[in-house]
Amino acid sequence: MTRAAVIAGVGGHVPARVVTNDELAQRLDTSDAWIRSRTGIAQRHVVEPGVTTSDLAAEAGRRALKNAGHDTADLVIVATTSPDRPCPATAPTVAAKLGLGEVPAYDIAAVCSGFLYALQAGAAAVLAGHAERVLVIGAEAFSTLLSPTDRTTAVIFGDGAGALLLRAGTADEPGAVHHVHLASDGTMADLITVRGGGAEERSSGLPVREEDRYFRMEGKSVFFAAVRRMAQSSLTALSRTGWDTAQVDRLVGHQANTRILHAVAEQLGLPAERAVINIDQVGNTSAASIPLALAHGMATGELRTDDRVLLTAFGGGATWGAATVTWPDLPPS
Ligand code: ACO
Repeated sequence: MTRAAVIAGVGGHVPARVVTNDELAQRLDTSDAWIRSRTGIAQRHVVEPGVTTSDLAAEAGRRALKNAGHDTADLVIVATTSPDRPCPATAPTVAAKLGLGEVPAYDIAAVCSGFLYALQAGAAAVLAGHAERVLVIGAEAFSTLLSPTDRTTAVIFGDGAGALLLRAGTADEPGAVHHVHLASDGTMADLITVRGGGAEERSSGLPVREEDRYFRMEGKSVFFAAVRRMAQSSLTALSRTGWDTAQVDRLVGHQANTRILHAVAEQLGLPAERAVINIDQVGNTSAASIPLALAHGMATGELRTDDRVLLTAFGGGATWGAATVTWPDLPPS
């Protein structure tokens, strides 16, 4: 029987504070109607002062372990765009907060595609026999990257974390991770960026510009690239798995924009209802988006045991990818 990494637990966590569109419209030149119609977002969750990405990641990881009925993992991978600090990585802090001892732990930086990059790395570690159980976490305190005066980003992003626990198993089991396809194009780095805070700025010798501290995105260009690349990557992952598009029960795409998710479904020839959508409640949570949508789909019953599930994302880098999994048989998280 073909070996595979298998999903053994799922956990999602968002901070308690909710920011509605109306609340944003009180301080920015925007409206609930614009945000809903252009993005599908009704509200997002935001961390309180002092709460960081590792706090959110640890709680999601704790929930995934509990869902799996375990209290240990022997590798922790955290995908994030908003690490607690530029140095060191956030994953060792998460492992320490979970009391996992001296396990290997590292971060992955691929912005909104980060979770798929982490999933491939985690599945590969299981398949190579380097780890028995891997916590793959996507976590963001994304609000900490946003300019309070930039309406083009402030309305879109939110905070949260989601986690999967992977274990060794076989490809015919519910929960099997079948294929993860990844790609990048570094010539698109300026489309989605926080320009300051890295070697480029520090080696320039120039004073720090206030706007370079914050996240910026060329929304329109990203929109079209996201639809095209997610659809292409999905077709590659499906063909390498041996699935027809028609066999996909659920599409769990990066929750960037409801219009993007519907456009990807349309390009693949999938009915819009097959897309799992929680962006209305949580906004775009970048690397946390796919695992949070998985936790949501499990809680609502939209994801059922043995469903063929297609995951896909596009994000800064540019990076993109898609993965195929069959949904596991798990208790409610
Ligand atoms: N409220 C009101 N009006 C606004 C707002 C706002 N919050 N933001 C922009 N506008 C205005 C613009 O100024 C523009 O006005 P103009 O016509 O007078 O110039 C108008 O609305 C239209 O702006 P567009 O940017 O063209 O709006 P669009 O329909 O493209 O929606 C959005 C913008 C939501 C950002 C969309 O482009 C999008 O979702 N892009 C993709 C995001 C994405 O995929 N992200 C994934 C990767 S992100 C990552 O990796 C972290």
